[in-house]
Amino acid sequence: MFNKQTIEDIVVTDKRVFCRVDFNVPIDKKGIITDDTRIRAALPTISYLIGNGARLILASHLGRPKGKHDPSASLAPVAAYLGALLGQQVIMAPDCIGAETAALAEKLESGQVMLLENVRFHSGETDNDPAFAAQLATLADVYVNDAFGTAHRAHASTEGIAHIIKPAVAGYLMQNELQYLGSALDNPQRPFIAILGGAKVSDKITVIEKLLEKVDSILIGGGMAYTFLKAQGVSVGSSLVEEDRLTMALDLLDQARKKNVSIFLPDDHLVAENFAADSPFTMVCNDQFPAAGMGLDIGPQTITTYQKQIASARTVLWNGPMGVFEFDAFAKGTLAVAEALAASDCLSIIGGGDSVAAVNKAKLQDKMTHISTGGGASLEFLEGKALPGVVALSDKE
Ligand code: 3PG
Repeated sequence: MFNKQTIEDIVVTDKRVFCRVDFNVPIDKKGIITDDTRIRAALPTISYLIGNGARLILASHLGRPKGKHDPSASLAPVAAYLGALLGQQVIMAPDCIGAETAALAEKLESGQVMLLENVRFHSGETDNDPAFAAQLATLADVYVNDAFGTAHRAHASTEGIAHIIKPAVAGYLMQNELQYLGSALDNPQRPFIAILGGAKVSDKITVIEKLLEKVDSILIGGGMAYTFLKAQGVSVGSSLVEEDRLTMALDLLDQARKKNVSIFLPDDHLVAENFAADSPFTMVCNDQFPAAGMGLDIGPQTITTYQKQIASARTVLWNGPMGVFEFDAFAKGTLAVAEALAASDCLSIIGGGDSVAAVNKAKLQDKMTHISTGGGASLEFLEGKALPGVVALSDKE
């Protein structure tokens, strides 16, 4: 259960509010933001704070600049973009610490917004250096964490600072994410199905083990399906297989059997000659896999099976694409899953960058119950790990 204080539990009017957001968004070489999901997702908290007269200081990381100033990882394009969304100026601070930034924070008036420069330009951020956290803390009176996507990192602006500025409270996005993911796991409407995809089984072993305790079925697609198929003796040509995980895959299938969880693996595939967007491809069933072919998407028979399962589910958790969806020719399986979820009235929770990107590409985001802004964070939550950025927040009294 979510038992942390939130922005509604504290007074923010006229206070300097340090709000950690996750504006780690893709920005192309021309400075254009190519996916603004995370910025829009933070708007309810930002609008609440502005509307309640906070002097708002936003902080985020962007990329992994490794403690050095890197102009290509500047948050300046985000300040301009957010300003346009809010219809008011977002002041871009020259840095996240230092005299000039402190003076700008001090001068902020109620309802004004400033975005600090990338906190990862200082190694103290990822080192969770107490001295760096203390410097950040001097900027503000109140701490809000709305950066669910970064809650699995114990960094200075997500964890260290929350021990200095008290109370440390959650924003709406943080609260929503934890409530949706938490209630799906703790109290799901059944049938409860997990759809898991992506390249590697090794990235998702702990998640699969945890989900086996909760779900009725798991539908598997993407590269990781080939490790499971090969473990069962299916020839999968030159498809991506983690040879060192074959025994583990068999063990997971065995655990599922014992727990009465149905695991669905693809029956047919789009098989390409090379890993390329324009590679020639054919459609094959499990017993027809060509030795030199690599599976890049689930086939039509599998799509039909997975769609039927989705149509009968009451709760669906989806993490990871069914194929190489960034290549149009191999996006059909992933898009079909997105469409089946959109057509169903189940509670649908989408986590993980690639599945979210697929839902956005299909323009079906409004048809999903909850789209998580956390890739790594939502996986760690599903694995049952404590998220340091959440643990550090003040408990409800
Ligand atoms: C993410 O994109 O998953 C978060 O912003 C965290 O980024 P990181 O993996 O670089 O810590």
